[in-house]
Amino acid sequence: MFEILDKRILAPNIVLMKVKAPLITKKAMPGQFIMLRVSEEGERIPLTIADYDRQEDSISIIFQEVGFTTRDLGNLEAGDYIRDFAGPLGRGSNLEGLNKVLCVGGGVGIAPLYPQIKFLGEQGSYVDVVIGARSSDYVILQDEIKNYAANTYITTDDGSLGHKGFVTDIVKELIDRGNQYDSVIAVGPLPMMKAVCDITKKYNIPTTVSMNPIMVDGTGMCGGCRVTVGGKVYYACVDGPEFDGHLVDFDEAIRRQHMYKKEEQIEHDCRIK
Ligand code: NAD
Ligand code: FES
Repeated sequence: MFEILDKRILAPNIVLMKVKAPLITKKAMPGQFIMLRVSEEGERIPLTIADYDRQEDSISIIFQEVGFTTRDLGNLEAGDYIRDFAGPLGRGSNLEGLNKVLCVGGGVGIAPLYPQIKFLGEQGSYVDVVIGARSSDYVILQDEIKNYAANTYITTDDGSLGHKGFVTDIVKELIDRGNQYDSVIAVGPLPMMKAVCDITKKYNIPTTVSMNPIMVDGTGMCGGCRVTVGGKVYYACVDGPEFDGHLVDFDEAIRRQHMYKKEEQIEHDCRIK
């Protein structure tokens, strides 16, 4: 059982929880994830680590309440316990030695990007950050990011904060302005990561993306999380979740993301009856 130390609502339906997990905290690296089960009967879901505090022995997770499990999780409060919390899983990000990096986060994808920005800032890299969301209400972690970024650019689809438009508008502008980035890191919805890669490919800038396909076991056994990268099949849970964005087959990943929509709807309808 894993105690929830703190809970904060960051935006409508977006929740941050700090969970006491000393063994995971000891080894956690940016880019890795955990698998949790809210209760004995619950399903397993993966969540990317949004922060770790080795003094406090805590792992932060940030999630959007979209399905039954995330809603059950969101109903817990500080002082309650999560049944299972396993990790750290997946490979950590490869950030060492990068001098100048552009980090791009979309929506809830800003959360898994934050530990990478923090790591880069702490190692002295120059980090430009572009974060985008539907509206100002959904822009998360902007103050935390500003502690580590050289420049933080905000975009909103409706123009309620920062630039009106998509993150890709600013990505293109920054590159066109002559910024020489060693690397671009993009985390967010698949169409966003695809659009960022379409830009950076033209400029030959290495780009890493974080894939979050459907996962079942999170340990390389079920094959549910497969993604095609450079024509080969990889399992996001053990080979990723980060991959070379210029080689990812995004169209296939987008198709696979919608594969169980019908079954999810049937399950939803059964549960609310
Ligand atoms: P969203 O749909 O509100 O999009 C957030 C921002 O992404 C937009 O404001 C825009 O700036 C950008 N964007 C979206 N579509 C774009 C496009 N076609 N071209 C260019 N930019 C685009 O995001 P949301 O509703 O918060 O959803 C978050 C998504 O992030 C979910 O799909 C979730 O699966 C994914 N996610 C990924 C990870 C990961 O590790 N890869 C982690 C958490 C969440
Ligand atoms: Fe089963 Fe990756 S989640 S192989």
